Amino acid sequence: MAQIGEIVKNKQVILKNYVKGFPKESDMIISSDNSISLKVPEGSNGVLLKNLYLSCDPYMRNLMSEPKDTVGGLPSYAPGHPIGGYAVSKVVDSEHPKFKKGDLVWGTTGWEEYTLNKSPDSLFKIDHTDVPLSYYTGLLGMPGMTAYAGFYEICKPKEGEKVFISAASGAVGQLVGQFAKLMGCYVVGTAGSKEKVDLLKDKFGFDEAFNYKEEADLDKALKRYFPEGIDIYFENVGGKMLDAVLLNTRLHARIAVCGMISQYNLEQPEGVHNLMHMIYKRVKMEAFTVIDFYHQYPKFLETVLPLIREAKITYIEDTAEGLENGPAALVGLFSGRNVGKQLVVIAHE
Ligand SMILES: NC(=O)c1ccc[n+]([C@@H]2O[C@H](COP(=O)([O-])OP(=O)(O)OC[C@H]3O[C@@H](n4cnc5c(N)ncnc54)[C@H](OP(=O)(O)O)[C@@H]3O)[C@@H](O)[C@H]2O)c1
Repeated sequence: MAQIGEIVKNKQVILKNYVKGFPKESDMIISSDNSISLKVPEGSNGVLLKNLYLSCDPYMRNLMSEPKDTVGGLPSYAPGHPIGGYAVSKVVDSEHPKFKKGDLVWGTTGWEEYTLNKSPDSLFKIDHTDVPLSYYTGLLGMPGMTAYAGFYEICKPKEGEKVFISAASGAVGQLVGQFAKLMGCYVVGTAGSKEKVDLLKDKFGFDEAFNYKEEADLDKALKRYFPEGIDIYFENVGGKMLDAVLLNTRLHARIAVCGMISQYNLEQPEGVHNLMHMIYKRVKMEAFTVIDFYHQYPKFLETVLPLIREAKITYIEDTAEGLENGPAALVGLFSGRNVGKQLVVIAHE
């Protein structure tokens, strides 16, 4: 067990170069060249974190692009330096009044064993540990808040409405579907393998699910599951799926634009052709980012913790062991290798 003030080797995942197209494991290297002092400089207001669980999230691909190619306003990773993302961490040392040694937190950190965070105000303290700690990378962390805000605040669902979710077995989608079922909606999801389709129906209680990779005509597939049309589309993938959904919306449908993973690795994004249907059906399409909803986190916990404790919602995680396996886990998101929320365990408490 490392002690405050000790100097230790700090294994890191380093971005080699800016990425174009699909990311590869070889775009990152594992380095043990750096050391770190497990002591926060006095008067600095920082915290020294031991990182436990790293979250693999699709937005991280965007930060691997050259700054001129990024969208979304977050700064790109710097080649030669560790990448970063959401994680669950333990406070080893603190000069910040809100945190003390031993606290568990979630928020953004480096992909490395230890991180000196000089401005930790945006970290969330973890007060509830009767649920799996890893849930704070997913169900109780950023993806969970995304599902909650996107579904309740943007989609504004009503009982009995017909809901469609893409990338439905992933970190966000599996929760949106379960929230929609709890609300009394008819829920259909799509995913990229038979295993995932089975999960959607058997584990998460979706009414129907289909493998989009096996459908030559997405419009026909949606007409099969939504003969009367779609009230709510929770958009995670973009591209051809969005175009097909637009042909199948009902009057006053809502589309929550959460993500468009099918576009993240394309040099030239695909066009959308069926936007006219928004006029005919008075469709409201609204994009959002989770960071605008973090003020609702306490309310989110009040809603979701009881649902977990009463086993009214469930959550599937895909866990990679060790920082060495982080790059493969991260790039796997873009070929659908993950089944459920992808995370990387680098240390246990
Ligand atoms: N707006 C926000 O604040 C916010 C926050 C979090 C996430 N997001 C977005 O939400 C979406 C889902 O994120 P997540 O964390 O839940 O990811 P995830 O679903 O856990 O993982 C990504 C999944 O996307 C699917 N996928 C990959 N490439 C695809 C393609 N070309 N076409 C269709 N599907 C593809 C794969 O599943 P299949 O096997 O099913 O293809 C893959 O497993 C992403 O677009 C992400 O960027 C947005």
